[in-house]
Amino acid sequence: MKKIAVITSGGDCPGMNAAIRAVVRVALAQGVEVWGIRNGYAGMIAGDMTILDSRSVGDIIQKGGTFLGTARSEEFKTLNGRQKAVANLEARGIEGLIVIGGDGSLTGARLLGELGIKIVGLPGTIDNDIWGTDYTIGFDTAVNTVLDAINKLRDTASAHGRVMLVEVMGRNCGWIALTAGLAGGAEIILIPEQPFSQEDICKQLLESRAKGKQYSIVVVAEGAGSGIDLGQYIRSRTGLETRVSVLGHIQRGGAPTVSDRLLASRLAETAVTALLDGKTDVMIGYRNNQCVEIAIADAVGNKKEIDRELYRLAEVLSQ
Ligand code: F6P
Repeated sequence: MKKIAVITSGGDCPGMNAAIRAVVRVALAQGVEVWGIRNGYAGMIAGDMTILDSRSVGDIIQKGGTFLGTARSEEFKTLNGRQKAVANLEARGIEGLIVIGGDGSLTGARLLGELGIKIVGLPGTIDNDIWGTDYTIGFDTAVNTVLDAINKLRDTASAHGRVMLVEVMGRNCGWIALTAGLAGGAEIILIPEQPFSQEDICKQLLESRAKGKQYSIVVVAEGAGSGIDLGQYIRSRTGLETRVSVLGHIQRGGAPTVSDRLLASRLAETAVTALLDGKTDVMIGYRNNQCVEIAIADAVGNKKEIDRELYRLAEVLSQ
C-alpha cells in the first residue's frame, strides 16, 4: 500500500490532532503517502483532501479540536454518497483509510469497507462509549475538565451551603459522570445505566444534611435527565437551595492530557501498521494497557457497559 488517507469524523475530541500527527509520521517513515480529508465524510464526498507532510502536522499535538475539521454528513448515509466518497479516494490512488471518530463514524467506516476500501478505525470521542476499548481518545481530557469544574463548584457550594448540580455530556452513557463524579467526590452520581427516583434523591440529600454535610455535589449525566429540571424538583421538594451548571461543549475542548496524547499516538501507530499489513474493518482499541485489534462490527454492534465496581465504590465513598 503506497497511499493512505486519514479522516476525523463526528464530534471532535481532544487528542484527535495527536492521532493525525502520529498517523502521518508513522506512515511517512514507512515511505507511504498520506492524504488528509477535510471536514469528515462530507469532505470525502466533496473531494476536499490534501497531501500531508511531516511539517503540516507540526505544532498540533497540544491542540484540542481537529485541524482537519469534522462534520456530520447526511449524504454519507446514502449509498450514492458513499460511492462518490470512494471514487474520490480511488481517483487519487488511495487504498487505505484511517477513520478517527465515535460510534457513528465507525459505523460509517464499516459501510465504506463494503465498497472495497481498506479501513482501520480509531475510537475518538469524549464519551468513552465504544465497546472493545477501555478508553477512547478524548475521554481523559474531558473528565479532567469536568473535575476542574467540580473543584471550583465545591468552593462556592460550600460558601452558600447549596446543592450544586453539574450536568455533563456522554450521550447515552454515564462514563464521564461516573469517573469525574468519583474523582470529584460527588455525593450523588446519576447515570443512564442506573435507574433512580427523584424522590429518593431528595431523601438522600436531606439525610446528608442531617448527618452534618453542609453542601452537596450532584453529577448528572445528560443521558440520565436534565440537570435543570432536577434542580427545580429538589428545590421544590426539599426547600434546599439548588444551582445548576450545564457544562456543555467546554468538555469537548482544551489541550489534550498526557494520557490522551499517549493513547492517540500509540493507537495511531498500531492502526497504520495494521493497515499496511493488509488488515481491514478493524478498530484499534486499548485493553489492559495493550493496543488490540477489534472487528469494527463488534465495536459498533455491542454496548459498552459501565464499570459497576466503580459505581459501587463511588456510592461507598459518598457516605
Ligand atoms: O459524542 C460526543 C458528544 O459531545 C456527546 O457527549 C454529546 O451528546 C454530543 O456529542 C453533542 O453533539 P453536538 O456537538 O453535535 O451538539
